[in-house]
Amino acid sequence: MHFLITAGPTREYLDPVRFISNPSSGRMGLAVARVALSRGHQVTLVIGPIQAKLPKATRIIQVQTAGQMAQACFKYFPRTDCLVMAAAVCDYRAVKRQVKKMKKRSTKMTLQLKPTMDILAELGRRKKRQLLIGFALETDNLRANALAKLKQKNLDYIVVNTPKSLASQHTKAAILSASDQPQPMRSLAKLTLARKIVALAEKHFAKSN
Ligand code: CTP
Repeated sequence: MHFLITAGPTREYLDPVRFISNPSSGRMGLAVARVALSRGHQVTLVIGPIQAKLPKATRIIQVQTAGQMAQACFKYFPRTDCLVMAAAVCDYRAVKRQVKKMKKRSTKMTLQLKPTMDILAELGRRKKRQLLIGFALETDNLRANALAKLKQKNLDYIVVNTPKSLASQHTKAAILSASDQPQPMRSLAKLTLARKIVALAEKHFAKSN
């Protein structure tokens, strides 16, 4: 199978030295990539700026912004069997990215932001035979919010987790689908969750081929 996996944060620059981002370590997506590679699959990894050592994926595309991540995903999606969208994509970017460094002032400042593209929702619209697995980071109404995202973004599965998972080796998560019995939230290592995700994709692929 060909896995397209996104991981890590994006950075949305305000000027040449300042950006909006989040503390995603990329560990979840990297764990899925490592498991998929160890199972003999092809892996295209689209990864935001992270510190961790990268696996020897079939193809690695390092990106900074949500726009760059979108372009890389759109390029490889048509030849993908399974997309695992583990990246923590920034939802907003500056209306205008300043070319020169903004000068500090002693007065209040208001940042004008506009939404970035929802990459996963767009891939959900482009979906043909691909299996789509998304993530939902939630603080409340975990299951209801995650299932709403599953539907809105046309996904097959959604992994619901909480902010505690960010930048940690472990996660508290459940894999949900529209038809399966509701799964309880479990604390587990990201590698264990990655194995479950890859096994699920393999099972789905074997059934439909
Ligand atoms: N996602 C994406 N593009 C964005 C934002 C999110 O592709 N601009 C993807 C994430 O990679 C994840 C899923 O959509 O797989 C859900 O992300 P999440 O942050 O939980 O939710 P949002 O859709 O951003 O909604 P909200 O922040 O309002 O909960």
